[in-house]
Amino acid sequence: MTAAPEAVAGESTPVLSAVDVTKHFVVRGAVGDSSVVRAVENASVDLHEGRIVAVVGESGSGKTTLARMLARFYEPTTGEILLDGVPATGRATRTYHQDVQLIFQDPFGSLNPVHRVRHNLDRALRIHDRRLSASERRKAAIELLERVSLTPGEDYLDKFPHELSGGQRQRVVIARALAVGPRVLLGDEPISMLDVSIRLEMLNLLDRLRREDGLALLYITHDIASARYVCDDVVVMYAGEMVEGGPKEEVIARPAHPYTKLLVESSPDPDRVGTLSREELFDDAEALGEPPSLIEPPDGCRFHPRCPFAMERCRTQAPPRTDVGGGHWARCWLHQEGRAEEIGATTFAAALANRDKEVRS
Ligand SMILES: Nc1ncnc2c1ncn2[C@@H]1O[C@H](COP(=O)(O)OP(=O)(O)O)[C@@H](O)[C@H]1O
Ligand SMILES: [Mg+2]
Repeated sequence: MTAAPEAVAGESTPVLSAVDVTKHFVVRGAVGDSSVVRAVENASVDLHEGRIVAVVGESGSGKTTLARMLARFYEPTTGEILLDGVPATGRATRTYHQDVQLIFQDPFGSLNPVHRVRHNLDRALRIHDRRLSASERRKAAIELLERVSLTPGEDYLDKFPHELSGGQRQRVVIARALAVGPRVLLGDEPISMLDVSIRLEMLNLLDRLRREDGLALLYITHDIASARYVCDDVVVMYAGEMVEGGPKEEVIARPAHPYTKLLVESSPDPDRVGTLSREELFDDAEALGEPPSLIEPPDGCRFHPRCPFAMERCRTQAPPRTDVGGGHWARCWLHQEGRAEEIGATTFAAALANRDKEVRS
């Protein structure tokens, strides 16, 4: 266990950072009572020019809430969003969105269905540069469409969203995001509603935007296999908390948190044999237990009720962040108790079966 360098991406200031952000939603019940949903707790992430960070976690783990804070659609309850190292609250939202664009899961919902592609792009182009003439904007729209591989761009200008395939629609959404000349793209599960056959092409597009245009990208997914395909760094979220992070290869090849291990073992990956299907592991709620409530989250480590490695301490004390080397870190007590090897020594499913055997005997 050695001290890791501060940032693998180098010394440069991140374009966009979340620093220790927390989001609590107050929800009111029917009878006037209220409760607090602890959607994101003390989460930090840095986005650098030309790099892709993937945020991976199950549904309900707080990924969208994090993206919305980064896009300033939500104000963090505590913590800060920094753009070029400066608190984002100092910027007007309008100019902020020229630098930071959020792409949603559902491309249908994000395009205006009564307007043609041309019109959908035109508004963003006008925001980008008020001086552009109509013919310059038309030319710029064609260029944008071709940048997202809708070629020839002219053929798409007069189409309505419903005349396009899901993948083409999502490309138009990305073209529109690019129209304002952003430096950061936040993709909130941008491929999860698309046909499986075109998902890779979309990931290749994100990869190209990062390489050719130096965009800083946040790629949100519930599927660690797609993160593996496209990103440089991964952070794993569980029940509103970041439990592990670091360079992709490190995190996926040597998960340092039992939850990441579960995600890796239950993800479809042709390179790995002898793994479990998602159904066998994830959906077997009887073995694994339900995901926790975010209104009354478990004490200690939020993963402990489902974790086959859990110790007494995990039930009461939240684990600190441990650096495991090379920019890779995890929040898990096993690292503090000299039991880190156990994570790699067995499969999650075997550890789970073992635990249940012990409980029964
Ligand atoms: N506007 C909101 N009001 C109340 N609760 C919310 C709101 N948005 C999200 N949540 C809750 O916060 C938690 C995290 O949600 P979300 O960020 O959407 O997770 P993910 O994107 O990982 O599925 C969930 O329990 C969700 O129900
Ligand atoms: Mg979401």
